[in-house]
Amino acid sequence: MNDASTTPVPPVQLPQVPRLQSLRNSFRFNDLLPILDATLESVGDTLVMYIGGVRRTVLTREPGLVQHILQKNHRNYAKSAFTQGFSRYVGHGLLTNEGADWLRQRRLIQPGFHRQRVAALTGLMQEIIEQTFQPLAEQAQRAGGSVDINTHELMTRLTFRVIARSVFSTAFSDAELDRASELLTRIQGFYVRTIRQPYLLPWFKVSGKYREHDRLTAELRGLLARYISQRQQATGSTPPDDLLQMLLDARYEDSGEAMTDTQLLDEALILVVAGHETSANALTWLLRLLALHPQEVQHIRAEAEAVLGGRPPTFADLPQLGRALYAVQEAMRLYPPAWMLDRVALAEDEYNGLRIAKGTLFSVYLHGLHHDPKHWPQPQEFQPARFAPGAPKPLTHYAYAPFGGGPRLCIGMQFALTEMQLVVLELLRRFEVEWVEGQPPVLSEPLITLRPKNDFKVRLRAR
Ligand code: HEM
Repeated sequence: MNDASTTPVPPVQLPQVPRLQSLRNSFRFNDLLPILDATLESVGDTLVMYIGGVRRTVLTREPGLVQHILQKNHRNYAKSAFTQGFSRYVGHGLLTNEGADWLRQRRLIQPGFHRQRVAALTGLMQEIIEQTFQPLAEQAQRAGGSVDINTHELMTRLTFRVIARSVFSTAFSDAELDRASELLTRIQGFYVRTIRQPYLLPWFKVSGKYREHDRLTAELRGLLARYISQRQQATGSTPPDDLLQMLLDARYEDSGEAMTDTQLLDEALILVVAGHETSANALTWLLRLLALHPQEVQHIRAEAEAVLGGRPPTFADLPQLGRALYAVQEAMRLYPPAWMLDRVALAEDEYNGLRIAKGTLFSVYLHGLHHDPKHWPQPQEFQPARFAPGAPKPLTHYAYAPFGGGPRLCIGMQFALTEMQLVVLELLRRFEVEWVEGQPPVLSEPLITLRPKNDFKVRLRAR
């Protein structure tokens, strides 16, 4: 007879969403997340499904497993073909790089994102926020007090300018920035289709879609490369203190050498790619939430008036302006911009009786983690006070991970939080935010990031 210590533990069997149902879901771009949440709620926190009815993936909202993949045994989990395929368009910067090469790059670039570096960029962020809101205030004045904005369009423009200027200073004209932003949006949109609808790949090939998007990519890289080489050749004048200069000046610890030109371009591009749509989406959702929750606006404003008395905040003020930060954090809980992280198991592994075969694809489902009623009472409600010090925290580590976790935690986290906090504070200092009635229902669209399917309007009323 076997005693307990020698009895083989039967492997955990995961529930499955059948292929056909998975395929049907892949057509439901706009209500996919509530469907996934409801499925997890009814069958369990980890299940097997088929992306586009084709690729088998393990979808999980189990904090322990998420931590296992992202942190505890991260060496066994690389980004999957989903991210690797993206490098065809955006190159091999930090976000898409892997293994020893990624680690070397991360070590090289990390110091560029220390708190003090981010603090030094605060003035630039404020300048761009001001340039974005001032014309709206004037427009509102002319139009009798208020202006309706296309929220996602405006937030995308704002965050694109913030990251582009943080990397490249004032190198590009507004027209060039708009073109770069448009190129990126089109490239990303196409890439997501290749993932979500793999059955269309043959058609993409024959219809020349790949070639078309390769051309757009070449245009985007050309735009950035021209400016980088101008900077490299500029001698005499003091170079601007921006993120590009940080990349140019960085030297590998082992060799003392600088990055190659291709690597430099890849890293600069990846910062722009990773650094604008995520923040734009978070701010877009936040504006809607603030418009619908005026009492939260009162809290943020009352605190800001007490701390600042009408002057603009400095980086050092931000810790005293927690209410704006909690609203940002809660918006990212409800609408995590990176709603899903992809990983693949490099070797066989085991987690709590779950046998993981080499090659298993994982979808680390942050949206599911953030909406799980086991961790978040009234998960659908906007309650920024959940993030206040002293509020009861979710019992489980990794129940909240909008910036990922482990060694691949978002390198721009401090940058993004600072930027979003500043946007909220300035917006509410200048305007009342109101929801415009009579708009079509707002649906979310989970592409690479979680954006609204159709843009919506928010009314800004000058104060
Ligand atoms: C609300 C804003 C943002 C969110 C929610 C966000 C989220 C994330 C997440 C979840 C990851 C990890 C991906 C994974 O593990 O698969 C990540 C990585 C990354 N993010 Fe962000 N991000 C934001 C803003 C930014 C900004 C502003 C920058 C640049 C200034 C940036 C640059 C990066 C880079 C380079 C990586 C790859 C890091 C690595 O693998 O070493 N992100 N981000």
